[in-house]
Amino acid sequence: MVADVESILIDRAQIALRVHDLGRALAKDLQDELQREGDPDGHDRIIFVPILTGALVFTADLIRELSMKLSLRVVAVSSYPGTSVESKGAKLAGELPRDLAGKHVVIVDDILDSGQTLGLIDELVQTQKPASVRICVLLKKPPEVRKREVKAHYVGFDIPNEFVVGYGLDYDGFYRNLPYIGVLKQEAIGR
Ligand code: IMP
Ligand code: MG
Repeated sequence: MVADVESILIDRAQIALRVHDLGRALAKDLQDELQREGDPDGHDRIIFVPILTGALVFTADLIRELSMKLSLRVVAVSSYPGTSVESKGAKLAGELPRDLAGKHVVIVDDILDSGQTLGLIDELVQTQKPASVRICVLLKKPPEVRKREVKAHYVGFDIPNEFVVGYGLDYDGFYRNLPYIGVLKQEAIGR
């Protein structure tokens, strides 16, 4: 598997440091929200919404940087059928959580690419009238690739427009378990 990787873009230690910082920033901003509401212990106020499957690894590390009370509601979106490396548009697969009204919602994804996935989930979440919505992504590709404008409030790394795998990101379902973000060899694509 490692033989399929051309180069490592972001290594394990860099990811760990950045996830730690993102977690700290999120914790502070969410704590401030609760403070403003006059309820610093805010019971059942914070809901993280990871977008499956790519956000799984990132979310697992991210939420362990927060010591406050929070809960998780996963959503599933399909956008890359099989061996495609180009988004074919986002479609909700399954249900959207229904209990987001009045909550502080943090939508988490692995990467902001065309923006269709996060645009869709943000739009659907907003219809429930949450108290606040934050978008947190580990990676962000350059604005030129965006087909839909999305504001990501927390971004781990800005990366070039390359197809990457690892730390939750897949190619045809594989490589999610790599502990780093890497670029695949050309011969590993379409095989
Ligand atoms: P978007 O809808 O085009 O923004 O794409 C978002 C989804 O496509 C992410 O949740 C990823 O699962 C996937 N994706 C986008 N770029 C890459 C990549 O470079 N490698 C692997 N998956 C990607
Ligand atoms: Mg994917």
